[in-house]
Amino acid sequence: MKKLLIVANWKMNKIKDEAKNYLEEFLPLVKDAKSDIVIAPSFALLDYMQAKLKGTGIELSSQNMFFAPTGAFTGEVSADMLKDFDVKYVILGHSERRQYFLETDSFINKKVISALSNGLKPIICVGETIVQKKADLSKEIVKEQLSIILEGVTEKDVENIVIAYEPIWAIGTGFAMNASEVNEMAEYIIKLVQTLLQTTKKVKVLYGGSVNEDNASEFFNAASISGALVGGASLDAKKFAKIILG
Ligand code: PGA
Repeated sequence: MKKLLIVANWKMNKIKDEAKNYLEEFLPLVKDAKSDIVIAPSFALLDYMQAKLKGTGIELSSQNMFFAPTGAFTGEVSADMLKDFDVKYVILGHSERRQYFLETDSFINKKVISALSNGLKPIICVGETIVQKKADLSKEIVKEQLSIILEGVTEKDVENIVIAYEPIWAIGTGFAMNASEVNEMAEYIIKLVQTLLQTTKKVKVLYGGSVNEDNASEFFNAASISGALVGGASLDAKKFAKIILG
């Protein structure tokens, strides 16, 4: 049985009080869960969440980071600062960062390299737009993204990276991709990463895009999908617990 990795991407949601209510409901529900659970709150909540998640087995992720170690980069957060809060994962290249903050694949690549050299596990987001999908370009787009984003990443890091396949048209829309199509893409990504990193090891591929408590098991039952990156449905403790518990 594969061990699923299920990640909550809270995006720019929740203040401390809301996180407190959420965890009071969520933690008892998932205390016997068999999956690896990760929560990615805003930077502002990391201190609070670190204290609350201690001893629960649930890991912390951030939603972004900058690649420089220190310096005059107003508004940015480094890998060291994240490690200070016991953060283990970092979501990089999310389509919202690409869309609103103009992040490019080569910029994301620098962050991936920095995260790995600091012992953080990047959750690397890739995926096509609806126009690209209709033009049957999904695989080409993902290949282009990963070829640049994984430049300089070596075979020894396959186990330290996670790829989140998130077709942009499925994010926050309520229109999840069909599980067998995602599985096909996951197989493609696994092979692509094997080629790019010259390894026979298999990278973990998560699916993200309108995953909810009704459709999650379809993805989890697919052979090559290792888990999910969940946005909207992860904001509700009961719904997220249901996704985890099946
Ligand atoms: P969604 O978001 O689950 O709300 O579609 C997923 C994501 O953006 O990571």
